[in-house]
Amino acid sequence: MRRNNAIKIVVELIRDFVRSMGSSSLEPYASLLTQVVRFLDEYDWLVNSLSIHFFTDDLWSKLPTSWQAALQNVSTEQLAEMLSPRGHPKRRSTPWPLSLEAFVATCHALALPRQPAAKEAASLSHSFSRFVKGKKRHELERLVPVIDRVCSLNDISCVVDVGCGQGHLARLLAYGYGMSVDAVEAEESHLGGAEKGERMLMTDWEKQEQRAESLTSSKQSFRKGSLAHTRLRVSPDLKSDDFLERLSWKEKRHAIVGLHTCGNLGPTIFRLFAQCSSSRALVSMGCCYMKSFDCESTLGYPLSQYVKDLSHQLSFRAAELACHTMDAYRLRLQGCNEGKLNVHAYRAAVELLVCKKFPSVDRSSVRKVRNYANMSVVEYAKAAISKMGLPLDLTLNDVELLESTCPRHHLATAFFCIRLLLGPVIETCLLLDRVLYLREHGVLHSYIWPLFDPRLSPRNMAIIAWKKQFKVS
Ligand SMILES: C[S@@+](CC[C@H](N)C(=O)[O-])C[C@H]1O[C@@H](n2cnc3c(N)ncnc32)[C@H](O)[C@@H]1O
Repeated sequence: MRRNNAIKIVVELIRDFVRSMGSSSLEPYASLLTQVVRFLDEYDWLVNSLSIHFFTDDLWSKLPTSWQAALQNVSTEQLAEMLSPRGHPKRRSTPWPLSLEAFVATCHALALPRQPAAKEAASLSHSFSRFVKGKKRHELERLVPVIDRVCSLNDISCVVDVGCGQGHLARLLAYGYGMSVDAVEAEESHLGGAEKGERMLMTDWEKQEQRAESLTSSKQSFRKGSLAHTRLRVSPDLKSDDFLERLSWKEKRHAIVGLHTCGNLGPTIFRLFAQCSSSRALVSMGCCYMKSFDCESTLGYPLSQYVKDLSHQLSFRAAELACHTMDAYRLRLQGCNEGKLNVHAYRAAVELLVCKKFPSVDRSSVRKVRNYANMSVVEYAKAAISKMGLPLDLTLNDVELLESTCPRHHLATAFFCIRLLLGPVIETCLLLDRVLYLREHGVLHSYIWPLFDPRLSPRNMAIIAWKKQFKVS
């Protein structure tokens, strides 16, 4: 009976994936990726134009003149609608040029859908949710049932949580789901936090067990798995044997999971998963893609031979744009005051001033200022310049220069939104490349799946893969 249920779950899960993302062959991922790459090549200049250079590089003039005319008087509601994947453009009082409509529609069409199906969410007991912030709680609630299902369909009970941070996920898998978990982390301080979290959990449970009235509930939520903490930097040159050697169960079948594997860790776990025969399943949520682009080698992209053959590269700026939070910005456009929307224009105006006044200062070094909502551009400039440790003596000319940008602040917001549309397309490119890499290595069951609410957790796309073959009728 249990086996029949497990098979039903397996088939249902595979069907879900296949229904949403096509077959387990290289197609249609490869053809979508080819289109994405062509499109990104066409708009390479826009991908690599930072909003902070809006005034210094006169970025507005680089947009086609017909777009400039259309976006000149665009309202914040129209910008919000433009960023909405489901938005059907309302009848525009002044029609937009077809090339602009096509750009917006193509960005949405090429980006993988980001809305989660909202099917399953674990409910965390107090012991697991104590000290866990809302975003992380949401992530755990959505991620853990998926890991559980993927493990059960592959008969796996061991999991390595790579880059475990404070260990919330590892603890939940070990003591909420009864798995044998290795929590691997490079930073000693984070690992210390994870170990402390485990001690606190144990103390919590001991107390609960001592209290007769909560004995039943504590037994329900506590399943005795095992948890080992290992300090290890999973670096790109780590050999798969050396990785396995550090795990407490070595050659045993296991799943690799990573929640927000930043920088090189993301691509590295794909390589390890493909290379280790005992790694049977992978559940990976990416983050901070640009951190694997900041050194000479671009380890993060491409991974697949398919993209290598296309000779496509992504820049640091592109990877950074992939991490922008379009859904959150859309909400901001819908609901907030003009002051908050002006932040891109303000930073660009300060950049213009800094370039003129302090030519020896590095470009793009103007940092964000907090609590800027009700500031004028001059107040913002003062706060930003003082944050940079530069002398604060603004002359009348400086003030005039800053204020001369005011009539174009709304254009900077429109430019930011146009560029923002490309973020999910770039993330699609990165994700498809990773899935193609897995498929090229024979992992035919490798899928991309939106798991988290993108407004709560913008890096919400999971790559879920397993090596076992199932027949789906
Ligand atoms: C964004 S945090 C996510 C932490 C945790 N998974 C979570 O979601 O709460 C990424 C973690 O990965 C760790 N990390 C980054 N690169 C690593 C590497 N190469 N090997 C092991 N851990 C790494 C960082 O120290 C950090 O704790």
